[in-house]
Amino acid sequence: MRTLVKNGTIVTAESEYKADILIVDEKITSIGTNLEGPFDRILDAEGKYVLPGGVDNHAHFEALNTDGITTNEPYATTWVALQGGTTTIVDFCTNEPGMNLVDSVNYRLNVRAKGKVAPDIAIHACCNDFTDETVGEIKKLVEMGVPTMKLFLAYKGTSLYMDDSKLLACLEEAGKQGMTMMVHAENPDVLDKCRNDAAATGHYEPKYHYMTRPPYGEAEAVSRAIRFADAMHCPMCIVHVSCIEAGEEIRKARAEGKAVIGETCPHYLVLDKHKMDHPDWHIAARWICSPALRDKEDQDYLWKALNKDWLSICGSDNSGIPQAQKNWGWDEEHQRCDFRMVPNGCPGAGDRMNALWTYGVAAGRMTRQKFVDVCCTTPAKLNGIYPRKGTIQVGADADLVLFDPDYKGTITLETNPTGVEYNVFEGLEQIGRADTVLLRGSVVVENGRYLGEVTEVVADGITYQGCTSANGKFIPGKPYGLGYDLLKRS
Ligand code: URP
Ligand code: ZN
Ligand code: ZN
Ligand code: ZN
Repeated sequence: MRTLVKNGTIVTAESEYKADILIVDEKITSIGTNLEGPFDRILDAEGKYVLPGGVDNHAHFEALNTDGITTNEPYATTWVALQGGTTTIVDFCTNEPGMNLVDSVNYRLNVRAKGKVAPDIAIHACCNDFTDETVGEIKKLVEMGVPTMKLFLAYKGTSLYMDDSKLLACLEEAGKQGMTMMVHAENPDVLDKCRNDAAATGHYEPKYHYMTRPPYGEAEAVSRAIRFADAMHCPMCIVHVSCIEAGEEIRKARAEGKAVIGETCPHYLVLDKHKMDHPDWHIAARWICSPALRDKEDQDYLWKALNKDWLSICGSDNSGIPQAQKNWGWDEEHQRCDFRMVPNGCPGAGDRMNALWTYGVAAGRMTRQKFVDVCCTTPAKLNGIYPRKGTIQVGADADLVLFDPDYKGTITLETNPTGVEYNVFEGLEQIGRADTVLLRGSVVVENGRYLGEVTEVVADGITYQGCTSANGKFIPGKPYGLGYDLLKRS
């Protein structure tokens, strides 16, 4: 199958230029003008930007809840990411109860995601313990194409939490094996103190979620994680950075040549904490995510930080928690909402690129090159899947977005589905959208709509809009991705 994408303006992280693209089957084989036919299909990109398919560094589809049984939105809802221009998700593998890291990844790829994931998928492991077996498991994961792993310094009292001694041991081993460590950085004791203080004074409303997750707790954990990683010679990615204080720790560490990179997310860039002041707690609970949404000054700082490469990636942190699970925040015994019982996370894989374009590029806050860099190229490099993913060049997978900069609309669940019953960006203006999306040469989105069949899919008794004709596949990452380059810098 020979496809010609003609008349578009190609945008990469470095430059933009007018040229045509020849795709043969799944790969880009030529870029230029007057490319030679015959062609089986011609896509006219006149008036559009041709962007690399998005790489979402941070997704939690079918993430196991802490009960170890139920999950958030299933893989069948990943079509929403494709519709938003993301052709590869890097998904976190929560551990299956009783299974080690390697078996959990295999189970995820071969059972949970198989035949259900619409975009391509790469995997981050999640480590919540360090035992004698972990050493061999890290080595095996890297060999399998999983060169990144997440540790949670928050969520004490759950199966996810990792203490400092285990953190150090894990970093030491990961550093030896060429793995890059992703860290959820919030100081658990700061959280405990603040949450206990709130409860002791009778405060359980959703707004106490943001009031009890102070920026100093995030900044302290970021600083500690970076120092430990540096001492253990392990490259690190601090995920979902939400505030000035945490961003400043990363900026300073990078200026000192430390091997650290930072990620922020669309909800921290465009929404503020007052979403949680909504009088109906069921609705307020939709914005309960960790770290918490912050203030306008933090948003301004995060935009600046992306532009200055203090933060280098925009990942969605997609956690599509259905309303029925957000409603777990109801304390039946005391007949009130308790913010501590609300599952954390916001959906956003579908709107990651829309939000960044609208409030970044279209608002004059970010160049198109920077947009491609933080949404596509740097995440691909970090995960060791570049240049197969994350850029437009000969030999790369033909994952392309024909982006229409003239589209104007309003974000609603109808036009911008999330996989669950609400969209945290509901009501915001949208400028520009992914008009046509190609995944390895196949057109999967046309006129901003996913082309596969979407039908009702039931998981844990909850009905979702799921795809039935998914075609994503696992893309193994190479060790020593961007993390290794960063490490050499120091
Ligand atoms: O609140 C969040 N971010 N939930 C998803 C899990 C995580 O910590 O990234
Ligand atoms: Zn996290
Ligand atoms: Zn308020
Ligand atoms: Zn996350």
